[in-house]
Amino acid sequence: MKPSNEAIKPGPIGIFDSGYGGLTILEEIRKVMPGYDYIYLGDNARTPYGTRSFDVVYQYTLECVNKLFEMGCHLVILACNTASAKALRSIQQNDLPRIDPCRRVLGVIRPTVEMLDQVTQTKHVGIFATPGTVQSDSYPIEAHKIFPDIRITTEACPMWVPLIENNEHLSEGAAYFVQQNIRNLLKKDAQIDSIILGCTHYPLIVPTIRRYLPTRIKIISQGEIVARSLKLYLERHPEMDAKCTKNGVTSYFTTESTEKFIHSASIFLHTRIKAERISL
Ligand code: DGL
Repeated sequence: MKPSNEAIKPGPIGIFDSGYGGLTILEEIRKVMPGYDYIYLGDNARTPYGTRSFDVVYQYTLECVNKLFEMGCHLVILACNTASAKALRSIQQNDLPRIDPCRRVLGVIRPTVEMLDQVTQTKHVGIFATPGTVQSDSYPIEAHKIFPDIRITTEACPMWVPLIENNEHLSEGAAYFVQQNIRNLLKKDAQIDSIILGCTHYPLIVPTIRRYLPTRIKIISQGEIVARSLKLYLERHPEMDAKCTKNGVTSYFTTESTEKFIHSASIFLHTRIKAERISL
């Protein structure tokens, strides 16, 4: 795709996730910016990304971003921590200048760490995330650029995404793994007073986390933070805002079967939607 001199045709905002997790971000974005149009793309055929290598996550994410560009999006949000951790920087630095320097891809990690100072008194923050996000070290690296005095401790939770995708997140099986991950995290740092859910699936498992987490520890979900940050971004960039259509319409696309997507998306969105299957 090359930049064109023709009049730019505005399009929806693209919201990408490896599967369903980005729906928790989309929901919050729509609360803050209901008038905009959105295309949600879930790469359900290749989910989970959380246990895959850097190269694979980068390649899959780039394909999905390109697809959203082809579908008319000028702005794409990687509503997936794993993709934000492993692919965002390469896409921004190496691919966008070649594909079209006027398009933008934003992630969820930077806006989340920007507000860390507002959530912690002890300056000890815990992060629950996928193994891929934890291995990338993106949270501590990004956080320390802004708040070098805040200690970040991460805990990989490889079982949580499969439990959520199988609608087992409120079961006794989920309780076993959640207790184990909480214990591990607090053993690493007992002074943690806030925990960031660094995976877009995790808001669904909050009731189980809350059952076992000491009440003094706050749980921070990303949806609202990312939504507020996107609104501010568009206020600061009226040239990008002008490229976003505003009819209040959301379309859903999946790389897997539509029946499966519609069924599982209803667990995340609490409503039935229509979806289309696409190949990349
Ligand atoms: N939604 C992804 C994230 O936020 C995790 C799901 C996956 O492993 O693909 O990291």
